Amino acid sequence: MSASGEETAGGEDIRNLGEIGGPLIVCGGIYGNLEALDALLAEADRLGLPPSRIIHTGDVAAYCADPRACAERIRELGLVAIRGNIEEQLATGAEDCGCGFEEDSACAVMADEWFAYVRNQMTDELRGWMRGLPRHLVLTLRGNSVRVVHGGVDNISEYVFGSAPAGVFRAVLEQAGTDVVLAGHTGLPFTRFIGGRVWHNTGSLGMPANDGTPRVWYSLVRPDGDRIVFEHRALTYDYRKTAAKLREAGLPDGYARCLETGLWPSLDILPRAERAARGKPIALRPQIWTGEPAGA
Ligand SMILES: [Fe+2]
Repeated sequence: MSASGEETAGGEDIRNLGEIGGPLIVCGGIYGNLEALDALLAEADRLGLPPSRIIHTGDVAAYCADPRACAERIRELGLVAIRGNIEEQLATGAEDCGCGFEEDSACAVMADEWFAYVRNQMTDELRGWMRGLPRHLVLTLRGNSVRVVHGGVDNISEYVFGSAPAGVFRAVLEQAGTDVVLAGHTGLPFTRFIGGRVWHNTGSLGMPANDGTPRVWYSLVRPDGDRIVFEHRALTYDYRKTAAKLREAGLPDGYARCLETGLWPSLDILPRAERAARGKPIALRPQIWTGEPAGA
């Protein structure tokens, strides 16, 4: 199925960006981390890429202290954004983050605190902006169809982790109907080539990847002849400043420590393989996609 502006996903809207010939920065999960966002914008400037070439896969607000400033920055600069489950919950005035955490789990207890903070920081104007964001983007990159989603394809809060069986990827790629899916929500960067298609998760810009380093992640997705190169890129930034702001705001200290240590405060959502990778520094080489089936 080629990219089309006529499609719908779960009754929600899709924005069609049409053909894009050049590189894209893709990131997600800013989580109110203004220092990381500014570091990314400086990197984009260094690469010569304007805000219209930066895609955010959702969750602009969460654990860190600057959700309003981050949302305003994205909106004012004109980054290309979709709704994450956080935007969806804020836009509809919901009482929780919509992550689907188990009741009384560590994530759920901390989410009660940070979500109340985030909700208080939002303005009617920003909630209206979030309501107007599409749930998906579709585009073509040198003729290859691409869909941008937050979590899963039909389910915005679905966690699709890199260790998932090939059948899971086949199913979500089938739902997407495109050659490539660009996704977020899990907070961990990975790329899977399945049957000639690609599922690429950028990891998150606002929290480290549980690898024992304070680095955060974004991606450079660039055509190279007939191929597409997926580069996972680590970003260093002033995480001490972000952690200090978080503590000053009285937000859960587990996330301030996470910014410093690179270790998540809870592994509740993680499958066994991702739990085992905790504290091991991530090293990812550029992934070159040729469109040929490479097996699972
Ligand atoms: Fe999310």
